[in-house]
Amino acid sequence: MQVQNGSCLVSEDLSVRFGGLMALDSVNISINEGETVGLIGPNGSGKTTLINVITGVYRATAGRLLFRGQVITGLQPYEIRAKGIARTFQSNRMCWRLNVMDNILLGLHSKQTTSWWKVITNRRAWQKELTLGIEKVTTLLADLSPSLLSKLHAPMSSVPLIDRRRAEIARALISEPILLLLDEPTAGLNPVETMQIVDDVAKFKSMYPQMSIIIIEHDMGVISRISDRVVVLNAGKVIADGSYNEVVENPEVQKAYLGDEEI
Ligand SMILES: Nc1ncnc2c1ncn2[C@@H]1O[C@H](COP(=O)(O)OP(=O)(O)OP(=O)(O)O)[C@@H](O)[C@H]1O
Ligand SMILES: [Mg+2]
Repeated sequence: MQVQNGSCLVSEDLSVRFGGLMALDSVNISINEGETVGLIGPNGSGKTTLINVITGVYRATAGRLLFRGQVITGLQPYEIRAKGIARTFQSNRMCWRLNVMDNILLGLHSKQTTSWWKVITNRRAWQKELTLGIEKVTTLLADLSPSLLSKLHAPMSSVPLIDRRRAEIARALISEPILLLLDEPTAGLNPVETMQIVDDVAKFKSMYPQMSIIIIEHDMGVISRISDRVVVLNAGKVIADGSYNEVVENPEVQKAYLGDEEI
């Protein structure tokens, strides 16, 4: 596949093998700048594996990934974060004992310039960076999730699930990523809360129109509202790539979901 003008991320014949299992099998996809792509597929089809290989958590067995035209396959997760790729996790990865503010501040780690040595020897530089970080979190939440502002000093373990999800999204957004990867951000939420997350996504899409997003979701209502385009994985292979309507009418997609869930 050629690198297209305006492509944020391109995967070329990307494969990930775990022993005898091809979790991803020659995946070719392209995400454009500013585009929101819904990534769907039955359980175990390779969706999270794709996010894990993009973020350097898993190694590609074959193929490569290009981010804005540069090969990123083989880079370490911290190098990929520094390039502008941020993610949320399918299972909550917040630090329960830290408060909401500190959890979100962790997202700025890849942007911080104060080394551990400077933290010890030049506390003023470190204090300044910390103050700027706190201001940034406060400004982001004032725009995105004002209800979280009053809970910034509460331990993460004490806030409801929707606020943990919002905090996790804020932790990814605070670094102002070029590509944001959301792994089932509405899992476990009720329908009203799910729509609140959909509204949040619409809000930050308008705040950062250049940002590209890959969102994994099982809720097709969410996918239809949020996605510009939908990619469907089944058994590690891309079986459809197109508009929401094209994809749900695709017989191969319907077959993949039969006995799993109805589209
Ligand atoms: N670290 C690993 N070691 C071995 N097998 C793995 C590993 N990670 C994922 N797999 C396997 O790869 C396949 C794809 O898993 P993956 O988590 O990507 O699926 P998914 O599409 O995200 O599913 P779900 O909708 O349930 O979250 C599954 O069969 C899974 O068991
Ligand atoms: Mg998954």
